[in-house]
Amino acid sequence: MKVFVFNGPNLGRLGTREPDVYGATTHDDLVRLCADTGAELGLDVEVRQTDHEGELVGWLHEAADAAAPVVLNAGAWTHYSIAVRDAAAQLRAPLIELHISNVHKREQFRHHSVLSDVATGVLVGFGVDGYPLALRWLARNAR
Ligand code: DQA
Repeated sequence: MKVFVFNGPNLGRLGTREPDVYGATTHDDLVRLCADTGAELGLDVEVRQTDHEGELVGWLHEAADAAAPVVLNAGAWTHYSIAVRDAAAQLRAPLIELHISNVHKREQFRHHSVLSDVATGVLVGFGVDGYPLALRWLARNAR
């Protein structure tokens, strides 16, 4: 089964970006972690990252057309992008919203997500370990 992992703005800078909040794992490490977990679970995992909102919208359309599950860390767009939400609402397979940090322990503006009510489930605050957790859930439930 094909599974997309889409990471939004600033997540390409993992490892360098606020390591006290997001940890020391780089985006390349995260790609390897997802690929290794996918291989173990028999999933074909493709990880992409973009700083451009329209690109993410296009990727969500691609996943909708392919009826593929998505693990989505939309970064800051989570909190205000109706365009990303409208694209996510078109998905035909499970959508897992994911945040590396526990957004509920942080600034007020991070407490609201425009995505959560179109997501199947939400994983928040497990660091980059949330990604393999999301993939394990999909392997068990999305077939
Ligand atoms: C994030 C949390 C967001 O509030 C923030 O804008 C991000 C990353 C996380 O993974 O914890 O860019 O989605």
